[in-house]
Amino acid sequence: MVTQPQLRILISRDEIAKAVDRLAREINKDYQGKQSLLIGVLKGSFVFMADLIRRLDLPLELDFVRLSSYGAARESSGKVRVVQGIKTPMKGRDVLVVEDIVDTGITASFLLDYLKTKKPASLKFCALTDKPSRRRIPISIDYLGFAVPDKFVVGYGLDCDEKFRNLPDIYVIED
Ligand code: IMP
Repeated sequence: MVTQPQLRILISRDEIAKAVDRLAREINKDYQGKQSLLIGVLKGSFVFMADLIRRLDLPLELDFVRLSSYGAARESSGKVRVVQGIKTPMKGRDVLVVEDIVDTGITASFLLDYLKTKKPASLKFCALTDKPSRRRIPISIDYLGFAVPDKFVVGYGLDCDEKFRNLPDIYVIED
């Protein structure tokens, strides 16, 4: 018999919507008159990205990068690779990375180093959630939704072994 993990709500859809509004206000203010290119990190950021861009009153383009480090595990393997790179030229663009969660910081640090080689005019980082207690590589998050505890979280795009991305709220998986 397959046992279903217990989920406990951590961040409601209303709280998420308020945070996305707040982040969009900050980004709208900072990116006026810029050549904005938003880069979402697949797959986890797609729900957040979809909500965020519809609150942005800016001329913008977007692209997605797909990285791999986790596989089906809950711990990062520590080795990140680009599975699908960026096709949009980045030279001279004001690039904003949109991520679902920062955990150890290994993925974000790898991605920012990879994107810097493409010579954007500016490079900033937006994360919906952050687990600061787990950090192994320091990352500066320019736009942050929520700090979350050291628990595995799912919903609103975040998965556990590809499940739960469709949940509209964010939940903790109880051990
Ligand atoms: P990091 O490299 O350890 O910072 O991990 C970042 C990536 O791990 C994120 O982009 C997520 O894909 C995944 N991840 C880390 N923690 C969680 C979690 O609690 N729920 C779902 N995915 C997570």
